[in-house]
Amino acid sequence: MSYDSKIQIHQSQVIIPQHKMPHLLVEQSLKLEGTAKLFGAKNATLVIIISLLLTKGKSTLFNVPALEDTFSIIQLMNHLGVHTEFDIDQNILEVDTTFVQNAQIPFEIMNKCRASFLVMGALLARFNKAEVGLPGGCVIGERPIDYHIKNFEKMGVVFNEEKDILSGSVKELKHRNLLLEYPSVGATENLVLAAVLTEGTTKIINAALEPEVFDFIQVLKKMGAHITIEAPATLCVTGVKELKAIEYSIMYDRLEAGALLLAGAITGGYIDIPQAPAHSMGLFLTKLQEMGHTILIGKNGTGVKIKASKRTHPVTIKTAPYPSFPTDLQAPMTAALVLTQGTSKIQETVFENRLMHIKELIKMGAQAEIENSVAIIRGVQELYGTTVIASDIRASCALVLAGLAAQGTTIVTGIHHWKRGYQNLEKKLQQLGARIDLYE
Ligand code: UD1
Repeated sequence: MSYDSKIQIHQSQVIIPQHKMPHLLVEQSLKLEGTAKLFGAKNATLVIIISLLLTKGKSTLFNVPALEDTFSIIQLMNHLGVHTEFDIDQNILEVDTTFVQNAQIPFEIMNKCRASFLVMGALLARFNKAEVGLPGGCVIGERPIDYHIKNFEKMGVVFNEEKDILSGSVKELKHRNLLLEYPSVGATENLVLAAVLTEGTTKIINAALEPEVFDFIQVLKKMGAHITIEAPATLCVTGVKELKAIEYSIMYDRLEAGALLLAGAITGGYIDIPQAPAHSMGLFLTKLQEMGHTILIGKNGTGVKIKASKRTHPVTIKTAPYPSFPTDLQAPMTAALVLTQGTSKIQETVFENRLMHIKELIKMGAQAEIENSVAIIRGVQELYGTTVIASDIRASCALVLAGLAAQGTTIVTGIHHWKRGYQNLEKKLQQLGARIDLYE
């Protein structure tokens, strides 16, 4: 089959959504170039907003990304009686927790994002009880909450589940040695929230040590919490009587930085991200180098520049908790690997069911086989625009990246996921030279 006829076949599959279905329209955009700024990290922001429930007073957060998930958590806080003012142009959020009266959150509010369940630890700490709908979030595997529940129970909490509502209550939280079977980010954060006002020292063994967890711990320390780390991964939380309101600037988003660097990589461009937290992006940057791209890191581990190579090499990636390769950059990285000469291997170990973007990339001409949690990618020379569906936040990023390199027009639907995770990333890409538009 000649290339021309192949292009025709693929382009004819582009279906411009009827009834103005929200979508991202991406045209092939080669050699993106320029400097990009970052917003604050979503995964730090959500837990930090919730942690303010442990204080009484007015706090100010800077660098807060205006994302759908941020709005969902703000709605949750407002439901509890918290007063908020969000300047979305300046990314400044003021949160007044003086009058929190309510410890109940209905399913409709809880199920908008998964991080909502972190409210359990905070409400147990403040009120000794909580009644919440079961959490929602991306469709990436079952995403159970058993590690949270088992360890809250060790601290004395009694749970009752009826329909979609989970109630927890305790006379007084007890400090305990808590062991996580797996270093779950959410369970670590929830247990820390429950422990900071609990008398005595709670130990969380095999805790998650993601950079966003550290940012959250920084916030708690600024409030007056006592938290130390014992090697290799035990958080020791010694309860204090009260925590004070704070001012804090959220860390820059390493996942947004990753998306922008990959936009440079996949289009053969040159991109400078002066705020990128390179010190917490180690293995991801190493893999970009292994692919053949030139990576320059700024002084003190802040700032990354990428000068993309035209001839790239295949790599092997295995996702795992920090400091291994982040699961949240697996899908975006896959978009670059489908265009890399040779055979790459991707193993997803954090979430089952998180290779759904690959089926969409195959629609664009990628060659890949998936067996259980492993994908074997055989690099192709071209991708072709078509209509694809984003199944989660990071899949939406992968499909946009693929669209930048694909011949013709790519339509990405399921863009509520994009808006949950990236603030105006399409505009940042436009400024770097991308032809991309968001239609809502
Ligand atoms: C957080 C991040 C998400 C990231 C993930 C892993 C936020 C808001 N989200 O999600 O972007 O992809 O960390 O880095 O910070 N598990 C259980 N039982 C539990 C809890 C988790 O089996 O009680 C499993 C999960 O199904 C998953 C694994 O543990 O397979 C890791 O999940 P976890 O680290 O808890 O992810 P989240 O906190 O939901």
